[in-house]
Amino acid sequence: MLAKRLISANFSRSAAQYDRHAVMQREMADELFSLLTTFDLQLTTILDIGCGTGYLTKKLAERFPAARVEGIDIAPGMIEEAGKQKRDNLSFKVGDGEEVWGVGEYDLVVSNASLQWMSVEQVFARVRERLKPGGLFLFTTFGPKTLMELKECGFRVNEFPDTIMIEQLLKPHFRNVFLAALMSREKFHSVKELIYYLKELGAAAADGEGQFQLSSFRKYKESYGDEDGISASFELIYGVFEKL
Ligand SMILES: C[S@@+](CC[C@H](N)C(=O)[O-])C[C@H]1O[C@@H](n2cnc3c(N)ncnc32)[C@H](O)[C@@H]1O
Repeated sequence: MLAKRLISANFSRSAAQYDRHAVMQREMADELFSLLTTFDLQLTTILDIGCGTGYLTKKLAERFPAARVEGIDIAPGMIEEAGKQKRDNLSFKVGDGEEVWGVGEYDLVVSNASLQWMSVEQVFARVRERLKPGGLFLFTTFGPKTLMELKECGFRVNEFPDTIMIEQLLKPHFRNVFLAALMSREKFHSVKELIYYLKELGAAAADGEGQFQLSSFRKYKESYGDEDGISASFELIYGVFEKL
């Protein structure tokens, strides 16, 4: 796991250009939002963990005008961007998803494309404390097949939890309503562009701090390239759990 200081600094630095690059994250947020609208919910309190620039947080505040909607993120730069969106029922603050304390405060906790930066054990324990009984936890995250090509070619990549681990961690205190993983394959012009994309998203784990071997680039291109560029895999995990 990358040091929190570094994660916070990387995301703060990319906050201003994050929305331009975060197309996949937008799609994941929209999917999560659609999943949510299949439930008949009366919500008064909502928390978004790792809210980034607040795209999903704001959608929730608009969809549930009677609810108090809070977004927290470890990166002050992200919270500054998010804070530009004004609504009476919407607020943002700097906070660590692994450490926020409270008991039974929320009807709904969401987290989109952020858990992969945190210890899921710790975040799940916090969510369990903060959700009211019957409350929902909706999330997306990335599974272990994410960036498998980079990994195979010798680049350093984050460790991602799989659905089995997620289910086991949540099972004692939550009912599994929905849990699925699907693969998405994205095209990039070059390995360099892929790494730039990950950096712009604040995903510095694939950044070897200048230690890249030319042979790794070559291997990637040979194994996963064609005349249009290279492809990279992302395993997208969607989960909906109800607090028992
Ligand atoms: C890929 S972004 C996703 C942002 C947003 N949820 C979205 O859908 O666009 C991941 C976010 O997680 C935040 N993050 C990473 N570690 C965190 C932690 N321990 N607590 C809270 N936020 C964290 C980052 O600062 C970043 O804004």
